[in-house]
Amino acid sequence: MVQKENRHSLFLSALSSQNMSGSIPIWLYRQAGRYQPSYQAIRKKYSFREICLTPELSCQVTLLPIQEMALDAAIIFSDILFPLEALHLRVFFNEQSIPQVASSHLHENNTLGRVTTAVSGTKISLLETIPQVYEAISLAGSALGKTPLIGFSGAPWTLLTYVIEGKTEEKAERSILFYDECLELFESLFLRLEELVIEHLSLQIHAGCHAVQLFDSWASMVSDTLFEKYIAPSIQRIQRRLPCGKDGKPVPLLYFSKGMSRRLSSLDLIDFQAISCDTESSLVEVARWAEKHKKAVQGNFDPKWLTQEYRDKGFQQALNSLLRSVAHYPNYIFNLGHGIPKEAKYDTVRYLVEYVRHWSKR
Ligand code: CP3
Repeated sequence: MVQKENRHSLFLSALSSQNMSGSIPIWLYRQAGRYQPSYQAIRKKYSFREICLTPELSCQVTLLPIQEMALDAAIIFSDILFPLEALHLRVFFNEQSIPQVASSHLHENNTLGRVTTAVSGTKISLLETIPQVYEAISLAGSALGKTPLIGFSGAPWTLLTYVIEGKTEEKAERSILFYDECLELFESLFLRLEELVIEHLSLQIHAGCHAVQLFDSWASMVSDTLFEKYIAPSIQRIQRRLPCGKDGKPVPLLYFSKGMSRRLSSLDLIDFQAISCDTESSLVEVARWAEKHKKAVQGNFDPKWLTQEYRDKGFQQALNSLLRSVAHYPNYIFNLGHGIPKEAKYDTVRYLVEYVRHWSKR
């Protein structure tokens, strides 16, 4: 599928609040993955880790959805957890792709062991730990031509939950308890992870990314105090320390978390260029806030619809209703509320992308 010439700048124009075209840029979380027969074929031969940490394979998989559906941006195929290996933690994905994090030092593999490993070991440079990710970005950048490439990182809080819990824990109860009971160690770990995030995003920008996204998936359950005192100021510090892109211009930062409509007032003074709207939040409310603060807004379409046939009435209605609701916001970027599930129907995803590409606000 050939990308129409005039769509190349849509995504970046929306990020600088300058999309006057009447068309909506579209990309999708987990746009490369198990719902695609082409990804499944590669996955039969290689593990998820091998794909992510072999530059040619990661580049090949990054390009799959662009070649098959002509989305308006690519996202490098990797995972938020690999940078933790620079802190002597080991990242595993089991047969079902469920991640686990363990200490690779002498310390025991429990919360205190993992935290001690992460905080007191000498930090290894990310260029030495995961050079494959940055090589994959250079390769993908050249192959993509004018289609923008998005880099990403887990945000400090979400990475911290993996260190404390050792696995995915959306409610992050132990991490919240750790903050309540071991504040000093919590702060050391949080700041160490923040430095790791800045290093990771900077290296991705140097390798050629045009925009970077912070994934803070597990930040929705924290108290307002924790969000306002640690999470929001951290986004600000990260944004301030990002280097310029290869073209010498500042690189836009996108922020993703869940329960965004509850958090808006804590983000009033924080600089980033786009806010993601999860499925639970009201898109109109988040878009209104974004417009007031001169930011782009992206996301909110419920990925559950992608498991339906594209002729399904519910899917068609949900899609049209979302598109109508953002007709007044020029800097909306179409995306989902969270990643494409592996049960998604390939033809429905293709249909969605084509439909949004042809939809015009005028
Ligand atoms: O969006 C993209 O296409 C880029 C690649 C990407 C992946 N993970 C690939 C992946 C990105 C941006 C992520 C982010 C990520 N990883 C997050 C934050 C966003 C979110 O989904 O909340 C988190 C929390 C992780 C950690 C992680 N990695 C989990 C919880 C899982 C298992 C759940 C699942 O979806 O299976 C992974 C594995 C993973 N990351 C897969 C992919 C394509 C499945 C790999 C496979 O089996 O082939």
